[in-house]
Amino acid sequence: MKKIFITLAIAAMALTGCTQKKALVLYYSETGTTEKVALEIQRQTGADIEKIEPEVPYTGNFQETAQRGGREMRSGELPELKPLKSRLDKYDVVFIGYPIWFGTYAMPIATLLKDNAFEGKTIIPFCTFGSGGLNESSDAIRKALPKANVLAGYGVRTARVEHAAEELDRFLKESGLKEGTVEKLPEYGEDQAVTAEDSIVFAKACSGYQYPLGTPVSVAKRTTEESADYRFVAVTRGMDGQQNTSVVYVTVGKAEGSQPEFTQVVR
Ligand SMILES: Cc1cc2nc3c(=O)[nH]c(=O)nc-3n(C[C@H](O)[C@H](O)[C@H](O)COP(=O)(O)O)c2cc1C
Repeated sequence: MKKIFITLAIAAMALTGCTQKKALVLYYSETGTTEKVALEIQRQTGADIEKIEPEVPYTGNFQETAQRGGREMRSGELPELKPLKSRLDKYDVVFIGYPIWFGTYAMPIATLLKDNAFEGKTIIPFCTFGSGGLNESSDAIRKALPKANVLAGYGVRTARVEHAAEELDRFLKESGLKEGTVEKLPEYGEDQAVTAEDSIVFAKACSGYQYPLGTPVSVAKRTTEESADYRFVAVTRGMDGQQNTSVVYVTVGKAEGSQPEFTQVVR
């Protein structure tokens, strides 16, 4: 009788979620931007958190990291990491955060994914970037962890990291990782020809960025409660003369004085 009672109690606990494990935020950050997002996820979800530390730290100097990271990427010689303090078997849900390097996750993440067991876990990628790279890096994580359930991730530009708190609130609720609901954002309308006014929005959105983002050739729009959003298709010509197309997402807040900002470039 006692045995049946215990079995029933365990089943009830499982059904009510009493046995649900905590989530873990694992992140790498060289210059502190991704760390801001990691801490915000911890704040909003109550997850545990750990920063990944390479045995030989990257210097924080762009040229040096580009040289070392590029060499490691080409040779496949991954940076060694200090041992993780967290026991991964304690967690079913792991947020993995990183800066984008050369279009994908920073090299310390390559070591993390290779050296640890993520089978059966739910993984939520998050990243910070100069212009883009969330989708490519999420796909690369899916490829590296074929036995994990890698969800759609969250990414934010370095220049817009102060928007991370409000964007994460929506992202976490939409993904069922935080209690509460949010109204679904409307779909973008049809692609249209770019007007002179749209071109000005595009130019303003790109003006603070160090690289040219091309010429907009079409645009789709939507209006939300907080902003007017634009999805531009832009054309650039590479150094080899090849024409490339990218999608540039732009938002203009409704608050007075808000300037157009691009949120990401999908190449
Ligand atoms: C070596 C290197 C390569 C980078 N490559 C890209 C890139 O391909 N695309 C991009 O949008 N940003 C790129 N960035 C910019 C970083 O992703 C961005 O600055 C990030 O917010 C840095 O995060 P952290 O402060 O957490 O290190 C690169 C930065 C470095 C150092």
